[in-house]
Amino acid sequence: MARIGSPAELEELRKGILATRDPSKRCITLCSGSACLACGCKEVAAALDEEIARRGLGGEVEVRRTGCHGFCERGPIIVIHPDETCYLQIKPEDVPEIVEKTVGGGGLVERLLYEDPATGEKIAHEAEIPFYRYQKRLVFGGNGSIDPKSIHDYLAQGGYSALAKALTGMTPEGVLEEVKAANLRGRGGGGFPAGTKWEGSRKAPGEPKYVIVNADEGDPGAYMDRSLLEGNPHCVLEGLAIGGYAVGAQEGYIYVRQEYPLAVENVHLAIRTAEEHGLLGKNILGSGFDFTVKVHQGAGAFVCGESTALMTALEGRVGEPRPKYIRSNIKGLWDRPSVLNNVETWANVPLIINGGAEKFTQLGTAGSKGTKIFSLVGKITNTGLVEVPMGMPLRDIIFKIGGGIPGGKKFKAVQTGGPSGGCIPEHLLDLPVGFDELAEAGSMMGSGGMIVMDEETCMVDVARYFTAFLTDESCGKCVPCREGLKQMLKVLTRITEGRGRDGDIELLQTLSETATEGALCALGKTGPNPFLSTLHYFRQEYEAHIRERRCPALACKELIAFYIDPEKCQACGSCRRKCPSEAITGAKNLIHIVDQEKCTKCGTCIEACPPRFAAVRKLSGEPVPPPVPEDQRTIERKSKREKEQS
Ligand SMILES: Cc1cc2nc3c(=O)[nH]c(=O)nc-3n(C[C@H](O)[C@H](O)[C@H](O)COP(=O)(O)O)c2cc1C
Ligand code: SF4
Ligand code: SF4
Ligand code: FES
Repeated sequence: MARIGSPAELEELRKGILATRDPSKRCITLCSGSACLACGCKEVAAALDEEIARRGLGGEVEVRRTGCHGFCERGPIIVIHPDETCYLQIKPEDVPEIVEKTVGGGGLVERLLYEDPATGEKIAHEAEIPFYRYQKRLVFGGNGSIDPKSIHDYLAQGGYSALAKALTGMTPEGVLEEVKAANLRGRGGGGFPAGTKWEGSRKAPGEPKYVIVNADEGDPGAYMDRSLLEGNPHCVLEGLAIGGYAVGAQEGYIYVRQEYPLAVENVHLAIRTAEEHGLLGKNILGSGFDFTVKVHQGAGAFVCGESTALMTALEGRVGEPRPKYIRSNIKGLWDRPSVLNNVETWANVPLIINGGAEKFTQLGTAGSKGTKIFSLVGKITNTGLVEVPMGMPLRDIIFKIGGGIPGGKKFKAVQTGGPSGGCIPEHLLDLPVGFDELAEAGSMMGSGGMIVMDEETCMVDVARYFTAFLTDESCGKCVPCREGLKQMLKVLTRITEGRGRDGDIELLQTLSETATEGALCALGKTGPNPFLSTLHYFRQEYEAHIRERRCPALACKELIAFYIDPEKCQACGSCRRKCPSEAITGAKNLIHIVDQEKCTKCGTCIEACPPRFAAVRKLSGEPVPPPVPEDQRTIERKSKREKEQS
């Protein structure tokens, strides 16, 4: 491939690519993201290739392997263009019917369409499925339509036009001003304004300067950065190169976890093809600007996502944080000015340069502009990655896009911001999502994890879970974090195990204060957040555990018991047959009972008891009634005639 020497040549190449593509030609986009790979999309792809070849449709139909479409829970997913028919959870054996009916004949395979759980209505077009309908996929949209291994797919969609515009039509200061005017705030943590950070580096003395992509993403349940890098690596590279130009850096780094092999593979390939096309490397687009990008594979420690730890790891040393007397945009990697931004932050940059700051700021709240990608997981009907305009109320994200809570259960809280984030209760569901709004509610945006919790989630246990995660991930360099979080975990564990004491809440508060004030990095400083936010909104749950030895959510194993209500039991035996520890005794016509000594509290019996009987109950904070004596356990069943007479 000859290098592209100017913006005009780039435009010519784009036109050339588009000329070879017939927009009316059918194209099947098949998600090949990590989640879909895990549920068999490779086999579906092979079946599609084979079926299309068998029918001699190769010239008429393109099969394109794309990145994550977002609706991972329903993978493997395909969308058939141009009419955007979307099929979910397809198997290789569905493929011949899909090709025959939809690709060949324009008909539908009804059973593979999305079905509205409330109305039973089938929805054929991707954009009309509620999960997609309320989203605004400005950053994530390319993921579902381009093949991440093809630079031509990215170019066809206007890729690298923002870089061309910046390099040949704008000064570095002009780019900086545009990013500042857009009020682009960092999507990976605290929401620091990117333009201000860039300006600091640009003005700082010292050469060379660096720009860095933070693709460490270690929050449990979050995978938007990984999906962006896997599915659309060029948009991140383009943003990074524009940032390099604005800051005065000629070297960029991508710090990505070793555990994300597809992201590593696709980003390596993207760098190589961008270099071959002259979009990275020397004299980019004939502008005189040189910019190279290297990939660093991290070994997967949560703390390495912290800015100073990440830079230390990039230098080849142990990834531990260091004090920030001087910010790393002034003195960062190898003590040089270094701009570190999150994957999604960089991916927003081409949008801002192409569309202008004014357009970008039309979306969002007063302090948070543009869109944000969330990883919507937990007790939610539609799990996946969603991109929404800043300012959308939590309620809309959870109920309109996420489809609400499964199994008719009640919403309890949503945890945002990753392990150091906080839980937002039901009465704040109308809160618009934005950096400041979430912080005011005692949580934070973090990198965009959103974990939905239902009535069966114990909030003390949630605090214990995240504190355990952070205790494990503490690098151990400073005492308030290393020892403080460990002590907090000890106290939280004993509360969930029914061994809480008077004064435990106050002790946790003191430990929180010490960690917040004394810890070296934000891991320790924000480590108490899960405790503090659950205490703020759910204090009565802490008190019930400590004072009444009761778990109101009936979740903490040490505080619950399973009991069969003798009035309701119909001796069907379902629970007895399924109990893995043979803790249930009973027989035909004999009311069943649970041997509390043998019961491991696995909960299988409650699931097994038919809902029309609903005889198994969970108890907490009250004694388990003694079992009914054997001679009173027989159920007198009425004969059919007696039943008819009564
Ligand atoms: C313990 C810890 C882990 C972090 N992990 C990440 C991460 O995985 N990805 C990320 O972008 N930022 C992470 N951050 C935030 C970074 O320190 C930094 O603020 C961010 O990368 C800056 O980019 P942004 O301004 O674009 O958000 C982490 C911070 C802490 C304290
Ligand atoms: S909770 Fe599990 S172990 Fe206990 S009785 Fe029910 S099925 Fe058996
Ligand atoms: S499943 Fe329910 S009704 Fe059937 S024996 Fe067990 S407790 Fe009784
Ligand atoms: S990986 Fe396929 S939809 Fe997310």
